[in-house]
Amino acid sequence: MTGDRTFPPGFLWGAATAAYQIEGAVDVDGRGPSVWDVFAAVPGAVVGGASGATACDHYHRYREDVALVRDLGLAAYRFSTAWPRVMPDGRTANPAGLAFYDRLVDTLLEHGIAPVLTLYHWDLPQSLEERGGWLDRDIASWFTDYALTVHNRLGDRVRSWTTLNEPFCSAFLGYGTGEHAPGRRCHRDALRAAHHHLLAHGHAAMALRSSGVTDLAIALNFSPALADAPDHHDAVRRFDAVHNRFFLDPVLGLGYPPDLLDDIAHLDGLTPAVQDGDLAVIAEPVDWIGVNYYAPTRVASLPDPTEPSNCPLPGLRGMSVLPPRGPLTVTGWEQHPDSLTDLLVHLAERTGKPLVVAENGSAFPDVVDADGRVRDHQRVRYLAEHLRAVHAAIQAGADVRGYLAWSLLDNFEWASGYGPRFGVVHVDFDSQRRVVKDSGRFLAQVASRNAVPGLGDRFD
Ligand code: FCB
Repeated sequence: MTGDRTFPPGFLWGAATAAYQIEGAVDVDGRGPSVWDVFAAVPGAVVGGASGATACDHYHRYREDVALVRDLGLAAYRFSTAWPRVMPDGRTANPAGLAFYDRLVDTLLEHGIAPVLTLYHWDLPQSLEERGGWLDRDIASWFTDYALTVHNRLGDRVRSWTTLNEPFCSAFLGYGTGEHAPGRRCHRDALRAAHHHLLAHGHAAMALRSSGVTDLAIALNFSPALADAPDHHDAVRRFDAVHNRFFLDPVLGLGYPPDLLDDIAHLDGLTPAVQDGDLAVIAEPVDWIGVNYYAPTRVASLPDPTEPSNCPLPGLRGMSVLPPRGPLTVTGWEQHPDSLTDLLVHLAERTGKPLVVAENGSAFPDVVDADGRVRDHQRVRYLAEHLRAVHAAIQAGADVRGYLAWSLLDNFEWASGYGPRFGVVHVDFDSQRRVVKDSGRFLAQVASRNAVPGLGDRFD
């Protein structure tokens, strides 16, 4: 096509999922309960009272799902292992749980698909939660034992290891706003949990390195802050510190940003959790950064600098989050592909590391038409625009190595239940029938040509 933008040779095309969002089979083959099983049972916690109890029944249908990845011509599949399946009580290995991931990895490899494994995508074993969960410093060693258990079993076949997915969400939404499991609402706890996530990442990263891992990452969710006028610059700085640099800087060996420490000093949560030597552990080098990007955040400075913010860290002062601007997705997220270009260019400079877009995608109200096709043209457009944005970042010099679409399948979207559909494959949750959407066909075409069509080009 005329305006094609071609990606570098070897660019990695794939799709992503997470265990609790797709597997179901929550009490099969010895899996223990996770914090999400318990949280989802709390009335009002999840829209429609939904849970991941069945989800996409991927535990039983993984062969069909892997065949879909192959049919889409994707070279990589990012998935997470469920800690409560591997270790039902968080500490003791469950051979049947490990055997499931063995089968999954073997099936991927049979089809020539590279497994991109994430060790933690929010499903903490409930028994560890009862011992303090992410508030207990010991979680760094619990997580490291779990990481090594998975690695001992799969390390001969899985090259790519990601420790944590989006510690921001797990710590701040889980412990600060209470929107996610375990549903606590305390800013001190959120800060402490955040530090322990990073500490667990560092310890596990060191242990995986010693076990020979040469392809190691962490996946962070970035939301660039946008403000209308330069006098809101301080709000941009504050939001960026708490949302983005909080997690990135320690991983890069830069420690916690000094301006962040000032902004949150009155909350008295982070500094007491940090012990001598922690920052050196967290600084264990990673080989690439997983960039999860969906939308920017609009912010403004508050006239009264002591007024508390409505951002996901209750207690932060001096800034507020503004409503997003259209066009929006069904989750109310702003579609702003330029922010992805800017983010990737900025991260490439700041980190000096290869980047992989480990999640990017959108939810729209999809329907299966009478002819069985899902014409999700809005998602096709979102994908095309964001892929052009990635391409633009590469043109500007960013070392972006891959793009993993969120998500392979419609799935359990956490507190939003089954409403928002993010898949490039439609799932009928009653019949478990899968239908590749037009966006899936589009992604397949992009992957096979290693190019995204230009603005004027049609996809059909
Ligand atoms: C990310 C999560 C992923 C999914 C997408 C929509 O924050 O990592 O599990 O919920 O958002």
